[in-house]
Amino acid sequence: MLKKIEAIIREDKVNDVREALKQVGILGMNIFEIRGRGRQGGIVLSGRSGSYVVDMLPKMQLNIVLSEHNLDATIQAIVKAAKTGDDGEAGDGLIFVLPVEEVVRIRTGERGHDAVMYPGDIDERSGRGKAKRE
Ligand SMILES: Nc1ncnc2c1ncn2[C@@H]1O[C@H](COP(=O)(O)OP(=O)(O)OP(=O)(O)O)[C@@H](O)[C@H]1O
Ligand SMILES: [Mg+2]
Repeated sequence: MLKKIEAIIREDKVNDVREALKQVGILGMNIFEIRGRGRQGGIVLSGRSGSYVVDMLPKMQLNIVLSEHNLDATIQAIVKAAKTGDDGEAGDGLIFVLPVEEVVRIRTGERGHDAVMYPGDIDERSGRGKAKRE
């Protein structure tokens, strides 16, 4: 089974999270600059003309398509690296997990699990990788 992680994190945690993902062997991903709001609905800023709410705050989104058996390790790595301090703070982000129907590597025609494996990745390290490197 293939899954997709959409992790919404703080901008200043991107490097820590990317490093943590590299450590566990998660290599393929997308990253986006986004704006969003959560439970608190932004922050209140005070200016000369009064105070106003900045509703949609800048965040970063990491999208990762991966095999289900790698989900727990990957989520743990993201949570640990994206959390503020030991207890976390409001605005630290959210991780969404979605099912993925199919992946096709265009060059080789590989599908599914094979299409999301990379030399030196989490699968190769755990013995699930393919012996042959392409
Ligand atoms: N229901 C949602 N659907 C999609 N994106 C969301 C949703 N809720 C929050 N987000 C995105 O996640 C970002 C971070 O949200 P945030 O960390 O503030 O979550 P929260 O639910 O308010 O939890 P906390 O109380 O820890 O702040 C938001 O800026 C927004 O981009
Ligand atoms: Mg919030």
